[in-house]
Amino acid sequence: MPRKILVSNALPYANGDIHLGHLVGYIQADVWVRFQRMRGNTVHYVCADDTHGTPVMLRAEKEGLTPEALIDRIHGEHSRDFADFGVAFDNYHSTHSAENRAYAEDFYTRLQAAGFIATRAIEQFYDPVKEMFLPDRYIKGECPRCGAADQYGDNCEVCGAAYAPTELKNPRSAVSGATPVLRSSEHYFFRLSDERSVAFLREWTQSTNAIGVRRLQPEAANKMKEWLGEVGENKLTDWDISRDAPYFGFEIPGAPGKFFYVWLDAPIGYLASFKNLAARRGDIAVEDYTDADAASAAATEMVHFIGKDILYFHALFWPAMLKFAGYRTPSQLCVNGFLTVNGAKMSKSRGTFITARSWLEQKLDPQWLRYYFATKSNGTMEDVDLNLDDLIAKVNSDLIGKFVNIASRSAGFITRRFDGKLGATDKAAAAEFITAWQQGEIAAAFESRNYSHALREVMRLADIANQYVNDHKPWELAKEEGAEARLHVVCSTALTLFRDLARYLKPVLPALAAEVETFLAIPPLTWQGEWSPLPVGHTINAYQHLATRVERTQIDALLEANRESLAPAAAPTPSATPAAAANPAAAATISIDDFAKIDLRVARIIEAGPVEGADKLIRLILDVGETDATGQPHPRQVFAGIKSAYAPEHLVGRYTVFVANLAPRKMKFGLSEGMILAASDPTGKSEGIYLLSPDAGVVAGMKVK
Ligand code: MSP
Ligand code: ZN
Repeated sequence: MPRKILVSNALPYANGDIHLGHLVGYIQADVWVRFQRMRGNTVHYVCADDTHGTPVMLRAEKEGLTPEALIDRIHGEHSRDFADFGVAFDNYHSTHSAENRAYAEDFYTRLQAAGFIATRAIEQFYDPVKEMFLPDRYIKGECPRCGAADQYGDNCEVCGAAYAPTELKNPRSAVSGATPVLRSSEHYFFRLSDERSVAFLREWTQSTNAIGVRRLQPEAANKMKEWLGEVGENKLTDWDISRDAPYFGFEIPGAPGKFFYVWLDAPIGYLASFKNLAARRGDIAVEDYTDADAASAAATEMVHFIGKDILYFHALFWPAMLKFAGYRTPSQLCVNGFLTVNGAKMSKSRGTFITARSWLEQKLDPQWLRYYFATKSNGTMEDVDLNLDDLIAKVNSDLIGKFVNIASRSAGFITRRFDGKLGATDKAAAAEFITAWQQGEIAAAFESRNYSHALREVMRLADIANQYVNDHKPWELAKEEGAEARLHVVCSTALTLFRDLARYLKPVLPALAAEVETFLAIPPLTWQGEWSPLPVGHTINAYQHLATRVERTQIDALLEANRESLAPAAAPTPSATPAAAANPAAAATISIDDFAKIDLRVARIIEAGPVEGADKLIRLILDVGETDATGQPHPRQVFAGIKSAYAPEHLVGRYTVFVANLAPRKMKFGLSEGMILAASDPTGKSEGIYLLSPDAGVVAGMKVK
């Protein structure tokens, strides 16, 4: 019986770009979905933008847009990014939708009827200027433990202390700068600590689903044990699900001025996206996947792919909400670890905070990233490191050197010597491939999301196929008198093995597999049935170049495109996870010759102004003592990320230090022809950017050494 599976990915926030960190989990899910479909299972794969909450509201305001206009634009950007990376959702919806509102209200009504909603007044910081309650991340002040300045309302990035915003010394609103005041307001709570909920979660988090698979990975299940505590002890607290106006979200029925907290309606967005898909499709019975009884009768599954930072929401709140509102609970959570780049947290100053869009703009093949991430995915919650040297090596050696090479060395002979028609496949030479197919180890590895193991096995087979070609040397057979028949068998066998490899790689490299299907003139490769060779007499198409190598220069350009030329901007954008302080790496020693390569000069700022669409940048026109061919002064244009620290009008007339021979960089706003120098704290512990100034008496254009 084919399985029927509803698969979701976490819904990205509608207030930022998709970056390579996000893509880890989306690619893992997409690979699994494609694999399941090749197996003949029915899969509905959904996602949406997570649109509600304070950050979206404030960002829209800052951009002079309505929240609706902002989320519309981001929806377009996110949809394109996913599609271009081959992450092929059946539906990419929005939590700001009619379906989601209806579901959210339904959940709320049912939970209320079951006695799971409570209300009580709580005291919170309120911004009297902006006239809104402040989420913890929008309050800054001095750490109550170590006294560090400029810490967020929930924890200190210097000493690691966790606290309530009311404990901060000298608190201020990050929105208006005003001193917040305490105010009381009525809030709505989901009674997570209810003994029914605790008992249910203790059981649910440690259980296996209807097909015998653990609902949570072992590491996740252990975390839950920690969070739930020992039997008899109750460590859960009720969950605040309401926010006061102004808030971008859904108003709570019967509670004017109160809105559902973004995390209440976010996971419900999975169901809303699915319902919206079903309405368009017309052949899906939604209840078979969502209703507790119908789902168990129909033997459907619901599988959520999420990152480890949002485990708490998905392993506690969400299943409890579903359970006590009478919906089915998730069959499985597939939790991915976090992405690091070259062993460190993604960083804007190192250029490793890489957006999905920039990867495409630099003409890097999305399949390289899919392949690399898959080789690093083992089905656990471990963090994943993107080592760019390793990516270059793996893609070039595995995909080009091993895989594509098999076809490129054998296909030409079939076309030129045999009119494109295949001969017999040598079954003895294919023995390992036949065994691999029959044993199903690669399929099992895909099923358990251990893609790393699957691909190692595929590359072992690729080595065998290459060895076969090396041993039989079709290029020599082609010159040998009377070796025609052997040449035919060798090349046909190589192509059958190549077909097998393409099938195994297809969940990871769908676009490449599609090209192989066209080249071999075969129907879409599936993962079902008996092993059989490509048929004798079958006509293939002429071989065409299937994949290109990654060049180091492309990766360099990618980092360059993502590097923020001058140290970090002031106000860090609030997000779910605070950016930890990155320690400055000790730089390697350089020679005086290396240093001399940098052409440092004194520059005088002639003009300074804002840059539309970039609130961190200032556009500077600099006199660096240069003239053009006609002897006219030739100033340079530079975009500097110093707006958080300097008002443009205060810069005009100042002297500073300028890097004159930096390769010009084309930015959205124009050409940046160099860089000015400033100091900043790379750990981000103290905010601020300090422009360098030469002593009085300098002249523009003087050399600095
Ligand atoms: N909006 C919430 C999810 C709501 S689900 C009902 C959210 N959004 S997010 O944009 O911050 O993240 C989307 C997904 O990407 C999450 O699964 C998150 O864990 C994942 N990742 C975000 N940054 C990541 C890395 N650097 N590395 C790996 N996964 C990352 O959370
Ligand atoms: Zn501290």
